[in-house]
Amino acid sequence: MRVSLEFAYWQSVLGGLAKPRISVTPYIPDRRETPPRRLGGFSAWDGIQDILADLIERFHIQTDSCLEFGVECGFSTVALSSYFDSVVGVDTFRGDKHNGKRPEFFEETLCQLSPYANIKLVRSDYREFIRGEHGSFGLIHVDIVHTFADTFACGLWSARHSRCAIFHDTESFPQVKQAVIEVARATGRRFYNFQECYGLGIVV
Ligand SMILES: C[S@@+](CC[C@H](N)C(=O)[O-])C[C@H]1O[C@@H](n2cnc3c(N)ncnc32)[C@H](O)[C@@H]1O
Repeated sequence: MRVSLEFAYWQSVLGGLAKPRISVTPYIPDRRETPPRRLGGFSAWDGIQDILADLIERFHIQTDSCLEFGVECGFSTVALSSYFDSVVGVDTFRGDKHNGKRPEFFEETLCQLSPYANIKLVRSDYREFIRGEHGSFGLIHVDIVHTFADTFACGLWSARHSRCAIFHDTESFPQVKQAVIEVARATGRRFYNFQECYGLGIVV
């Protein structure tokens, strides 16, 4: 775990000391289920796919539509597409300072995900995407650059446009966890945290 030098993160941490505490409830799945679809290769997300069915049942999430910010090669996108009728994946497809900047890889991911007809990829920065009108979703997954400011901005919009918003890397990036705290505070929703697989914040 790295110490963040992000001003907005420390502002939130220190400002939070004077505000009511947001409780973080451990998320303990009742059951684990391997989804029918799985993309090969390494992903830091590996393991989370096995709690999706539990999450959907526990929080009565409608499975008609799902939105994901941060697709990369599509490991999490494919897992989500096992349970939702439609999955929209938004990404710049250029990487970022935390998972590595690269030449654009949109075509590569598009080709890799072409067998899955219910996945639609959108090549866009989340800031551009959320300026549009997209309705609401059963679930939104946030897994973009792991700064406090971006996770909070994207996460707040996501919580306001879904029944449930999930955030990867709450355990490996304190900035992500702090952003999820602020999203829960701003929306009055509960924050559950699954500690395995680098952490998954759940705002519902
Ligand atoms: C950690 S990876 C996503 C991994 C993927 N969710 C998985 O587990 O299979 C982060 C992705 O977020 C994308 N990203 C970073 N900042 C972004 C932004 N501002 N808008 C859209 N996508 C962004 C990067 O291009 C990268 O592909």
